[in-house]
Formats: sequence, structure tokens, C-alpha cells
Amino acid sequence: AAPLMTDKLRRPLRDLRISVTDRCNFRCVYCMPKEIFGRDFVFMPHDQLLTFEEITTLARIAVGHGVHKIRLTGGEPLLRRGIEDLVRMLAELRTPDGQAPDLAMTTNGSVLAQKAEALKAAGLDRVTVSLDSLDDGVFQAMNDVAYPVAKVLHAIDAAQEAGLGPVKVNMVVKRGLNDHSIVEMARHFRGTGIILRFIEYMDVGTSNGWEMGQVVSSAEVMERINEVFPVEPLDANYAGETAQRWRYVDGAGEIGAISSVTRAFCGGCTRARLSADGKLFTCLFATKGTDLRALLRDGATDGELAGALGALWGARTDRYSELRSASTPGMKKIEMNYIGG
Ligand code: GTP
Ligand code: 5AD
Ligand code: SF4
Ligand code: SF4
Repeated sequence: AAPLMTDKLRRPLRDLRISVTDRCNFRCVYCMPKEIFGRDFVFMPHDQLLTFEEITTLARIAVGHGVHKIRLTGGEPLLRRGIEDLVRMLAELRTPDGQAPDLAMTTNGSVLAQKAEALKAAGLDRVTVSLDSLDDGVFQAMNDVAYPVAKVLHAIDAAQEAGLGPVKVNMVVKRGLNDHSIVEMARHFRGTGIILRFIEYMDVGTSNGWEMGQVVSSAEVMERINEVFPVEPLDANYAGETAQRWRYVDGAGEIGAISSVTRAFCGGCTRARLSADGKLFTCLFATKGTDLRALLRDGATDGELAGALGALWGARTDRYSELRSASTPGMKKIEMNYIGG
């Protein structure tokens, strides 16, 4: 096989996270707070969005360059009409050594129960569902649209039954808001085969008013769980994995902790992000993307697109989370619903 293309810090391009829409039906306080994403907020007009053909073309080129995992995100990816068709198109891609890339989706679960079977049939391998608490008061205060816990739990079950697993559940922990739900969440998902992951609240974008004091470190999360359900560390599944993995000593399964604030994982970061309007970002915290849609719509050949991607990745030096410090709070950053979680 051809040598993997690497960036300036010798990291290969392995993952492509594709945002298929900047819209979401939730208004999570840490992501799309209502004060900013209100009724008059202007989302991308439909003609600005990449078509499924355009997305598939870019994904095919990325897969040719070494990408072996594709994750569909948003906003809420299941709000994009016909998303099963895109899944079907992406599921046909093959890496240079003939493998189908791992095809995953991160979703809030609100329309997942009715789509799980169709997504599986279209070729989606697995889903990760966001759920921040089992307490309706807390969860609804966080999603800010009164969406009930029970419906998300139902979607998680439906995904598991449809074979979209191992299903993962992401819980963003914000101090004073849902940190008292940590142990309860662990108790609920232990022994179910579902992998719960705790995420440190990050300073993505500029809307959420992030403060360090609101972050609960993964170390603290795991200590609190360990007091009730003893855990021991597991090795990473792959280099540059976002989560540190743990297992319950009593055999009740795996949990994870994503510590982008207290223990940055930029060193092994192999992820590129494609926004719904076709800009490629080489970091979640990048301030500027490269407009691949313009190239596509100017009639660039596959070879030209591949050259552009290679040049972009080859010049990459991003390691924002490692540099996060006194110098970064004033920086202009892109919102997560735009760039894709
Ligand atoms: P797996 O393929 O299951 O390992 O998924 P994943 O952890 O890559 O994806 P997921 O969408 O579940 O991401 C979990 C959390 O990690 C989200 O809050 C992401 O925003 C965050 N995250 C994912 N990739 C990056 C990254 O490259 N940098 C930072 N700082 N955070 C990331
Ligand atoms: N910090 C950490 N995680 C976040 N997510 C969205 N905004 C933030 C933030 N500020 C999470 C979502 C989802 C994942 C893709 O990103 O909850 O699980
Ligand atoms: Fe929507 Fe996910 Fe952002 Fe919540 S975190 S507002 S569900 S995109
Ligand atoms: Fe990768 Fe940027 Fe996240 Fe670091 S901060 S892990 S470079 S996306």
C-alpha cells in the first residue's frame, strides 16, 4: 500500500467527520444556546449545502488518502432529508486495500427510533447517542426544548436492537448542572453492552460562555464512579482515540472518558472535519476552513481535489487543545453545530 499521507506533526489522516446540516431541534446550553440560536438565527440556505453526490465525492477522495472512519454529525444529522441515501452511498466506498470504512453517526436520538432499521439496512455500522442525564428536570434544562429522557432511552434501545452497535452514549458533564447524574448514568448503563462516555465540557465556539470552573475533569468523574463501581483502565482501541477506556472490575462492561481539556489528545489526532457547506477544517478549533465546494462546483477533477486535500493535510500543524491556555480565550472560533462535533 502507498505510504500514509501525514501532516507536519507526522499524523496521518484517518477520520473524516462530516456535518450534514448545521440545524438541530435541540438547544443544548453547551452547544446551541437559545440566546444566540433563537428564532431569528439564520441557518445555511439549502443551496449552500453539499449535495449527497458532492459529499460522496469528497469522502471517496479522503478514503483514497487513508481515511478509514467516516462519522456523520451535525447539527443533528438525522434532520437532513434522505440521510439514508447518503449512508447507502458512503457504505459503497472502499479503501485502497479494499476495506469498507467504519461508518458511524453521532445523534441526539430524537428521530433515531423510527430510522434505526433503515439506517442499518443502508449500511450504517454504529451510532453514538448524546444523553446528559437520566433526570428529566436536568436533561430538559440542558436540551432546552423539553425533550424527555424516556424518548432518548427508547432510541438507544432501538439502535441496539437494529444492530447499530456497540452503541455509545455521550454525556457532556457541566459542573453544577448535571455532575450529580454521573453515578446514576453509570449505574443505568452498566451491564447493558452500551458504552457510556463522559465528555469534559469544552470551549468550542464562542456562544456557550465556557469557563474552566464549569469543567469536571475526567479524573474526578472516574474517581466518583470508582467509589461505587470499581474500574480499571483498558488499552486504547486505536492510536489517537478520543476516549480513555475503562472497564468495571466486576465485568459489567466498558466506560470511557474524553478529556480534551485536562488531557489533550492532539498528539494522535487524525481527524478532519467537513462542514455542511463544504469547508474542510483540520481542527475542531480551527478558525478558518478551506472551501472545497468551490473547487467541486468549478468542475475540479478527482485528481485536483486529491491534490488540494493532500496539500491541506500536509501543511497541518493544529493542536489547539494542547495549546489551550491563557492565550486562547480571546480567539475567534467556529461554532460546533457548523463545524460538526
Ligand atoms: P469513536 O469512533 O466511537 O471513538 O468516536 P469519537 O469519540 O471519535 O466521536 P464522538 O462524536 O462520539 O465524539 C465524542 C466527543 O469527543 C465529542 O464531544 C467530540 O466533540 C469530542 N471530539 C471528537 N473528536 C475530537 C477532536 O478531534 N478534538 C477534540 N478536542 N474533541 C473531539
Ligand atoms: N463540549 C463538549 N462536548 C460537546 N458536545 C457539543 N458541544 C460540546 C462542548 N461544548 C458534544 C455533544 C455530542 C458530541 C458530538 O459533542 O454532546 O455528544
Ligand atoms: Fe444539537 Fe447535539 Fe448541539 Fe445538542 S449538542 S444542540 S443535540 S448538535
Ligand atoms: Fe485534533 Fe484539534 Fe481536537 Fe487537538 S484540538 S484533538 S488537533 S481536533
